[in-house]
Amino acid sequence: MRTILVTGGAGFIGSNFVRMVLEEHPDIRVVNLDKLTYAGNLENLEGYRDHPNHIFVKGDICDGALVESLISTYKIDAVINFAAESHVDRSLEEPGIFIETNVKGTLTLLKIALEKKLERFVQISTDEVYGSLGPEGKFTEATPLSPNSPYSASKASADMLVQAFGHSWGLRYNITRCSNNYGPYQFPEKMIPLMIHNALKDKPLPVYGDGMHIRDWLYVYDHCTAVWKVLTEAQPGRVYNIGGNNEKHNLDVVRLILKALGKPESLITFVKDRPGHDRRYAIDSSRIMAELNWRPSVSFEEGLSRTIRWYLEHSEWLNHVVSGQYQDYYKRMYSNR
Ligand code: NAD
Ligand code: TYD
Repeated sequence: MRTILVTGGAGFIGSNFVRMVLEEHPDIRVVNLDKLTYAGNLENLEGYRDHPNHIFVKGDICDGALVESLISTYKIDAVINFAAESHVDRSLEEPGIFIETNVKGTLTLLKIALEKKLERFVQISTDEVYGSLGPEGKFTEATPLSPNSPYSASKASADMLVQAFGHSWGLRYNITRCSNNYGPYQFPEKMIPLMIHNALKDKPLPVYGDGMHIRDWLYVYDHCTAVWKVLTEAQPGRVYNIGGNNEKHNLDVVRLILKALGKPESLITFVKDRPGHDRRYAIDSSRIMAELNWRPSVSFEEGLSRTIRWYLEHSEWLNHVVSGQYQDYYKRMYSNR
């Protein structure tokens, strides 16, 4: 395999993946297709934009003619589809764009991947397609899909389309379903960077509901190494859960952030809960560990401290992304909670 098409490679996980590939796999050329929505940011690729193995293209995965020409021009071998609308709260406000990008955009990519007989199509999905857990048990790859938000419903739809293309026409695909990621370059609408940002500004930290919801956190670099293993070592048609075995209550994560920054717990503010808020996610990663020998390399304590340090050292990046539209979003989303 020589050239890969990474979609959404200017977003949080995509840009971490592109950097990892350029650093660690010098025989790979990356064509990076990203629409640069509010979540996509060329500053996420700082230092790598002009890398000789990196070609950045601003464009939409729904634009079939563009995708087709990129695949022909650059002789693409595989697609890794990170591009998505990715935030649950936004999907509750405006679900339509989630169908456009996450469902129709994926369908566009699938049709062309099949027609061009690509070696592999890797769909980056999420554990949220499985719905919510009670106090016991974990999601396995056999857990039925039961999405609860427009975001997770759009991701589950995309997963089913990918599987249908494999089943009906033999598309060589994999699907990865990862738990919540955190780390450098995450947009501060997601919990961890939002709480870090607010704490740094001595603003209230808005905890939804009782704060006892559980997420299973994975440092973003470890997600990237898992995707690389799936791309290069997995049998086609396999689905892989990816998780860090790091279940935490939201409130505990918020407390750790405050402690690390030397800020008082009085900044914690309980606000109105998210409608339909999934109570608990927990991932059983035993398949990827057994079949592909993948292991997470960063503990939660180490990952959180690296992440906080990164945000402290990148105040310019943070100031840029929270200017303008972000302020409107924040007012809209949090003023009536
Ligand atoms: P993100 O919102 O930070 O980045 C998404 C990127 O996709 C942005 O750069 C955006 O510009 C781009 N994009 C959006 N619509 C596009 C379109 N129509 N055409 C081309 N590019 C488009 O998201 P993220 O957190 O990096 O998530 C990446 C992927 O991983 C998503 O598919 C998401 O569902 C999945 N995922 C995320 C998490 C998480 O914790 N963040 C966990 C599991 C899975
Ligand atoms: P988020 O980062 O939006 O990821 P997801 O909803 O996809 O899991 O949220 C993580 C958890 O944090 C989730 O239980 C919702 C909660 N949360 C808050 O309590 N306050 C906030 O301001 C945000 C953005 C999230």
